[in-house]
Amino acid sequence: MRIDVAFSPAAMSQADLHGRVVFVIDILRATTAMCAALNHGARAIIPVSSTEEALRLAQTIGSADVLLAGERNCSPIPGFHLGNSPLEMGESAVRGKTIILTTTNGTDALLACHAAASVIPTAAANLSLAAERGREAVDADQSVLIVCAGRKGDFALDDAYCAGRLLAAIFESAKPRRELNDAGLASLDLVRRYGERWERPLLYSRSGRELVRLGFRADVRDAARLDAYPVLGQFHERRVTLVPVHA
Ligand code: MLT
Repeated sequence: MRIDVAFSPAAMSQADLHGRVVFVIDILRATTAMCAALNHGARAIIPVSSTEEALRLAQTIGSADVLLAGERNCSPIPGFHLGNSPLEMGESAVRGKTIILTTTNGTDALLACHAAASVIPTAAANLSLAAERGREAVDADQSVLIVCAGRKGDFALDDAYCAGRLLAAIFESAKPRRELNDAGLASLDLVRRYGERWERPLLYSRSGRELVRLGFRADVRDAARLDAYPVLGQFHERRVTLVPVHA
């Protein structure tokens, strides 16, 4: 059994996906927004990699229950119904809707993992449920891969810290473990460095600073709320839908 962290989709191979439970993290903001949407009753989220593809797919589906959402350079895409803010994914906007979402890093990270049997969009917003799923995998001797969306193929502090928090919650401790790769060990180091307060690493990160500069400080605050949207989504057959949580 192995638990590996990839600091960006470029750091993993398709072979790494085989037989693993995969968690994809883009805490600022795509996976947080997905959790918010599912928590507020969205029927499904379909990640796509370009604006054109989003428009084409909306036309093909041709239903009034479809919403176009996403961002470029952190700002909403002109003509789309929603941006990529978790605060826009309220019940009145998303209940019963299928959301076609395109973002700079998060949606491509999910799409890069489509070959895996089980892919779970993860953020602080659903960390406890994701960790529970991770513990189930570890108990069943199944390998786990945590994929950080990162920033344009590069390391992102916000996602790496979230990966560390997920590992610490799976193991119920931030102690290094021999099943981890070096990126996993480094993620746990971030948890020891920043402690339990999500806002510090999120605000220090390049994405966090950019969001604050553009007026999205409230989104960073929202993304830092532990278990704010306690849902488990699963990316399967090109869409993210809710996994029913057994009591
Ligand atoms: C991304 O996919 O890179 C992010 O979600 C960007 C953002 O939220 O603005």
